[in-house]
Amino acid sequence: MNRDVSGLVKPLKLGRLSIKNRIWNSPLWTRTAHVDGEVSDRTIAHYEARAKGGCGVITTEACAVDEDHHWITPQIAIWDDKFLPGHRRLVEAIHAYNTPIICQIHHSGMFGTNPVSPSGIPCADLGKVGEFIQSRELATEEIEVIRDKFIAAACRAQAVGYDGVEVHGATAYLLEQFFSPHNNHRTDKYGGSLEGRMQLAIEIIAGIRAACGPDFIVGYCGADCDWVEGGITRDQTSALVVALEKVGLTYFDLQTDGTYETFHKIECSAGYRRQPIGQFDKTAYYKSILSIPVTTRGSGEYDPEHWNAAFLNDECDAIRLGKQILADPDTPNKAVSGDWEAIRTCIKCGNCINSGEVMPYELSCAINPGLGRYEKPVERSFETKNVVVIGGGPAGIEAARVSALRGHKVTLIEKNDALGGNLYVASLPISKETFTNYIRWGGEILKRLGVDVRLGTAADAELVASMNPDTVFVATGSNPAMPPIPGIDSDKLIKAEDVLKGKATLGKNVIVAGAGEVGLETADLIMTNHKPESLTLIEMRPDLGMDMNPMDKAMLFANPAIYPTHFQNGLRPMVSTRITEFREDGVSVEDKDGNKLDIPADSIVLALGYVSEHKLYDELKAKGINAVALGDAAKVSKIVTAIYQANVMARDN
Ligand SMILES: Cc1cc2nc3c(=O)[nH]c(=O)nc-3n(C[C@H](O)[C@H](O)[C@H](O)COP(=O)(O)OP(=O)(O)OC[C@H]3O[C@@H](n4cnc5c(N)ncnc54)[C@H](O)[C@@H]3O)c2cc1C
Ligand SMILES: Cc1cc2nc3c(=O)[nH]c(=O)nc-3n(C[C@H](O)[C@H](O)[C@H](O)COP(=O)(O)O)c2cc1C
Ligand code: SF4
Repeated sequence: MNRDVSGLVKPLKLGRLSIKNRIWNSPLWTRTAHVDGEVSDRTIAHYEARAKGGCGVITTEACAVDEDHHWITPQIAIWDDKFLPGHRRLVEAIHAYNTPIICQIHHSGMFGTNPVSPSGIPCADLGKVGEFIQSRELATEEIEVIRDKFIAAACRAQAVGYDGVEVHGATAYLLEQFFSPHNNHRTDKYGGSLEGRMQLAIEIIAGIRAACGPDFIVGYCGADCDWVEGGITRDQTSALVVALEKVGLTYFDLQTDGTYETFHKIECSAGYRRQPIGQFDKTAYYKSILSIPVTTRGSGEYDPEHWNAAFLNDECDAIRLGKQILADPDTPNKAVSGDWEAIRTCIKCGNCINSGEVMPYELSCAINPGLGRYEKPVERSFETKNVVVIGGGPAGIEAARVSALRGHKVTLIEKNDALGGNLYVASLPISKETFTNYIRWGGEILKRLGVDVRLGTAADAELVASMNPDTVFVATGSNPAMPPIPGIDSDKLIKAEDVLKGKATLGKNVIVAGAGEVGLETADLIMTNHKPESLTLIEMRPDLGMDMNPMDKAMLFANPAIYPTHFQNGLRPMVSTRITEFREDGVSVEDKDGNKLDIPADSIVLALGYVSEHKLYDELKAKGINAVALGDAAKVSKIVTAIYQANVMARDN
């Protein structure tokens, strides 16, 4: 399609550098550093893939400037010359793509080793995950030492060839805490008035400019406001950035996602409801008061058309993609070539924020199985095999894609009339429609690769055998679990997915049986859309959402508009409670102490988990056909596991 991409490639100067496009990566912790803080081969491979993918500028993740204060988990360090060989290798790898690279420099403040802060105000609300963080107030001389560490780190970065540094002044890390009236109650030169709270940032930027000379890029990332009562406001940030420009700032990067104190808030796109937050209105304002470039983060805005318009309208100078560039490192190249359909758009599932499930504590992306694994291209096979894939959910789509890239002849059979499987069902709870991004992309890519997709066809062993396959990938997914509880066969019981699909009629008093992720999301939808008089959530385990990632769970329960509102409107949770019978007029339950109770209801919704659907797999194996079970058909899990496993198995075939 002939698209207008003129905004995306509109000429831009960053300091003295001309930048080839306005789609950059956002600084984002890759979890690839060695434990001692050294840049690893995986760090280099990660950024190299993004440079190859066409980013106009590469910026590293936050690199620690202070040996005593850094993240608890491995963080790239730049506090000592001993780390420079690794940084030099990284810089050279990125420069080989004719792409500038900026080092983000960072002090963890309260959120890391030896927590420190301007005034020792505790963070009682790490996105409401439940942590309560105490910190020690810094003495004035310690602050001067930290300032000098930022400047020394910038000099080190310059020495190894970085084109610039970006000072991290956001997310409630040390510099943002110094700027915040909520966190900074100091009475020395680094606190009190607005001028005092700006002092540390000004001394750092001015110090770097003086030490590194006029050509070195010096950026600062900060927030428009922090959504904390008595916290940072736009007027204050305006004063700060104008002052920073005066002392030599090259660009201002606007962070719009809230801080560790406010991630749960509806205003922050990192929050549960996943909507974009209109960052270009905000950057347009900062562009009106500054003459240096103003950039911003993706923050849920992943539509190239919107980026293009914002650049053409001069509302923003560059978009820095965090999650989107994890999901598809080639996003910039695809965007500037106008091939937007080929972009594997982030589904905003939060897996990367919550840490990978495939390899715990490593960064993983649910839909990009290459992330963290060197983004290795799929190798073509020596022979062309006849590959049949059963199931068009995420595991089936990925197995078909990789098999086609291997050069095999691929047929995908799906019994429904559309691709997606349970990923489609997963897109139905409130605010999860972004999950369908993957289905759209999968369909497009399979078409381009020439995969023969047969929808509306239920495969059985006979059909598969008649196709004479060399390999069959069985990705038949899962079915709702029906544990042997008396009364579970009643046709009055409603499956959660039927509620999500809008197929169910619900009465005034509802029971949702099971309060894992599916039960909670279904109850959220019922409370929001159906507004019953009462909803009782019954869970056998001792807590709600025990299968959920902590951040997702925090978003559901901490956001005042979601579960706190549902509790006020008649939602009653019962945990450690086992359903002993489904009756015509409700359920019988028993709590952990053996107390028995009958709970009346007009409608009962089942969300009791899922069980693998592997009948076809068993039949194919019995026939001696080379079948491989993938995704939920092998073991009920999540999208990240389904796609990763499919990728690995199909590469091996
Ligand atoms: C409500 C809900 C919310 C969820 N939320 C999340 C979430 O937030 N994050 C997350 O990571 N995961 C989530 N999941 C889980 C996730 O959707 C699954 O783990 C994932 O879809 C599994 O992928 P799959 O390809 O293995 O199977 P599926 O997606 O189930 O696909 C299997 C496909 O096989 C087809 N099929 C079955 N038998 C045949 C046959 N004989 N012939 C032809 N076709 C057949 C089915 O029609 C289906 O399309 C959620 C699931 C649900 C139900
Ligand atoms: C896992 C993860 C790590 C991050 N690490 C950093 C970081 O080191 N420095 C930083 O400035 N922002 C960091 N961010 C914020 C992102 O750069 C980005 O601003 C945010 O994810 C919103 O933009 P997006 O929607 O494009 O991802 C991180 C975000 C995530 C999800
Ligand atoms: S893990 Fe999910 S949220 Fe993170 S980049 Fe991938 S698709 Fe986006």
